[in-house]
Amino acid sequence: MDQENSRGQTTLYGGAVHRRVTIRDLAQAKSRGEKWAMLTSYEQMTAEIFDEAGIPVLLVGDSAGNNFLGLENTIPVTVDEMLPMVRAVVRSAKRALVVADLPFGSYEESAEQALATSIRFFKEAGAQAVKLEGAQLEQVRKLTQSGIPVMGHLGLTPQSLHQLSGYRVQGREDGDAILAAAIALEAAGAFSIVLELVPAELAARITAALEIPTIGIGAGTSCDAQVLVWTDLFGLTKSPPRLAKAYINLRSQMLEVAKDWAQDVVHGIFPSEEQTFH
Ligand code: KIV
Repeated sequence: MDQENSRGQTTLYGGAVHRRVTIRDLAQAKSRGEKWAMLTSYEQMTAEIFDEAGIPVLLVGDSAGNNFLGLENTIPVTVDEMLPMVRAVVRSAKRALVVADLPFGSYEESAEQALATSIRFFKEAGAQAVKLEGAQLEQVRKLTQSGIPVMGHLGLTPQSLHQLSGYRVQGREDGDAILAAAIALEAAGAFSIVLELVPAELAARITAALEIPTIGIGAGTSCDAQVLVWTDLFGLTKSPPRLAKAYINLRSQMLEVAKDWAQDVVHGIFPSEEQTFH
């Protein structure tokens, strides 16, 4: 879209900010064999930084529950808690496609419930797509027919944590069922599917079988895209999952800065003359 690569094709990365990424851009990236990255974001600063970094898709994930709201997992997260986060990310990211994660209990009941919730994210927060967990085919059909792009999510679906007996690799025995669910989601209209914590071989089979992009997290290298929870990538999470790699240890750096500054306050070193007004 923004920038041409050496073969004169447009690519998702690196160009000046001209317009927002669309689901069509993502479909075209798959047909070019171009991989891309998605990060979570829950507020203004990370949305601005990741957008400037050229990350084409930002997910306001319900992982906000255990990374932003101080909850144990994603299950208690509510629509009213998610709405201000989505609004902040949409306002702060000028180019990235912003996807709102539908929280547990806000879409499973019926296609109508899923539509009503998604309309709130579209009208009240400016989301450009929604994500939901599982093979909720009626919901996906209703949303896409109503003009709302849907990202699916299969494999380890954290909202089903108790049904799945914990955060365990999915699809070792029932890989064909996950493949069938992915094909059904595509047929229902999903524009992409997150594959979480599934064997790399299964993710490769699903990616090859689908025309829409797969987005892996703990699903090997064959997926068309990768997603990480931003606090895992930056080393802020206390106990990061094995599927994540921290590229920096921001937690220890922030701890040191907080201690250093507090000591400077205690010893009257901060504020110095530079931060003082007369
Ligand atoms: O909520 C979230 O952040 C997610 C990603 C891990 C895909 O669902």
